[in-house]
Amino acid sequence: MESTILMTSFVAFVLFFVIRHIWRSNPIGRRHNTQRLPPGRMGWPLLGETSSYLKPHLATTPGRFMEQHISRYGKIFKTHLFGHPTVVSADPELNNFILQNEGRLFECNYPSSMAGILGQWSMLFVVGDMHKHMRSIALKFMSNTKLRSHILQEIHSHALYTLKSWRDKQLVSAQAEAKKYTFNLMARQIMSCNPWEPQTEYLMREYFSFMKGVVSAPLNLPGTTYRRALKSRATILEILRKKMEERSESDINHEDLLSTVMEEGSLSTEQILDLILNLLFAGHETSSIALTLAIYFLAGSPESMKRLRSEHLGIVRVKERPEMDSCPNWEDYKRMQFTQCVINETLRLGNVVRFVHRKALQNVQFKGFEIPAGWKVLPVFDAVHLDSTVYENPMEFYPWRWQNVESGTYFTPFGGGPRLCTGVELAKVEIAVFLHHLVLHYGWELVESDVPLVFPFVEFEKGLQIRLHLLDDNN
Ligand code: HEM
Ligand SMILES: *[C@@H]1O[C@H](CO)[C@@H](O)[C@H](O)[C@H]1NC(C)=O
Repeated sequence: MESTILMTSFVAFVLFFVIRHIWRSNPIGRRHNTQRLPPGRMGWPLLGETSSYLKPHLATTPGRFMEQHISRYGKIFKTHLFGHPTVVSADPELNNFILQNEGRLFECNYPSSMAGILGQWSMLFVVGDMHKHMRSIALKFMSNTKLRSHILQEIHSHALYTLKSWRDKQLVSAQAEAKKYTFNLMARQIMSCNPWEPQTEYLMREYFSFMKGVVSAPLNLPGTTYRRALKSRATILEILRKKMEERSESDINHEDLLSTVMEEGSLSTEQILDLILNLLFAGHETSSIALTLAIYFLAGSPESMKRLRSEHLGIVRVKERPEMDSCPNWEDYKRMQFTQCVINETLRLGNVVRFVHRKALQNVQFKGFEIPAGWKVLPVFDAVHLDSTVYENPMEFYPWRWQNVESGTYFTPFGGGPRLCTGVELAKVEIAVFLHHLVLHYGWELVESDVPLVFPFVEFEKGLQIRLHLLDDNN
């Protein structure tokens, strides 16, 4: 017995040095002049430092991995993540440089395992002309004129629909409610689904199961989250496919994305399906967590809450016939200036999208370092947003800092350059209008302590349970 253990340890020991030797002498390590590569260590060949990079941590911090690496190596370092040699950047200037040089020096490069679940025609995977084309469709769909003319009205009625469902409740899960609100809104914009229809709820359940697969390990085995997600993906696509068939046989004109892309006629059915699924994904998950974070930060900052409520009372009171539940118009929205500060501050401190995946298309020199062609490049936004040399007291929720325009210099919650999020304005209106009605009707506090964690999607472990206090109308 003892000798077997000894033998096994010995073999493991030898294997360790053999693998290390092969790794150190492999071409990736040798090809470049290592002097000019950023500092850092590559970790184990296969996994590299991925698991410690992805370790769950508080969303309002950059996490131990980033903190330790930055203090050891500086804001630009090399490592081995997601199966590739990688340069990680917590440097505000390099991050902007990467985003602005999309398609020239760098290119979007998400892990190929994600394509199985999101689809090969996802906007995260397409590049070049196809990306330009899909992007223009997404931009048209969420254009500013549309937002003003009818999406604002839709957002308003969905927000009220959610708040009305709280009428007899004292406790709600802010996270679950925010997810329903943004899902219903996107489902309505994309394919005219109404929140009270049973099919919408069915779609939502399937969609949540699909979502879990995006971040789970891509193991297509019985019983895995990934397998269930693939099944949900197929179910959702089947529903969408049926909708497309119904529409091509009828003359009813729907004013939604599905009809727009079908009439446009340039995309194949497969491409349309992936695009729609992706907009549902991109537009729902992010804004729901942003709204949940705003509710969380406001509960912990009575001063911000007071200022926010007085802004929204002001907007209602200046009307000729003040009514609490009337739809804010575009001018009202533009007057929600402190609200915009709250939204920016929420995105800065909460960091919904922590980083984006890129690769270097050629050897790139920056601040004396070389980023070799073919390497993965990760601009990490949260490390900049929480950097005390960029923001004073970065851990504090302080919306007033946004009254100083300089706060925006290195602020990239929506990415930037040719891949800047196409939903920026939509997301902001969604959050602002929901907060408008929320602060006019309710005060709230956390039921139990709960914190946003990074999994790497930001999520509240307990769903952010809040206790509601209905305000009386002349408050
Ligand atoms: C607070 C909410 C949101 C945040 C923080 C957010 C963040 C981001 C980020 C960081 C990117 C860049 C990804 C990259 O460069 O690789 C992105 C892209 C994108 N977002 Fe958003 N987003 C939000 C809401 C929305 C909404 C409401 C929509 C509407 C459907 C949307 C649609 C998209 C699309 C289509 C892209 C891909 C753009 C392209 O590749 O050209 N997002 N988003
Ligand atoms: C919020 O941040 C954006 C950059 O994403 C900036 O353009 C805008 O001016 C900021 N808003 C406020 C109110 O500071």
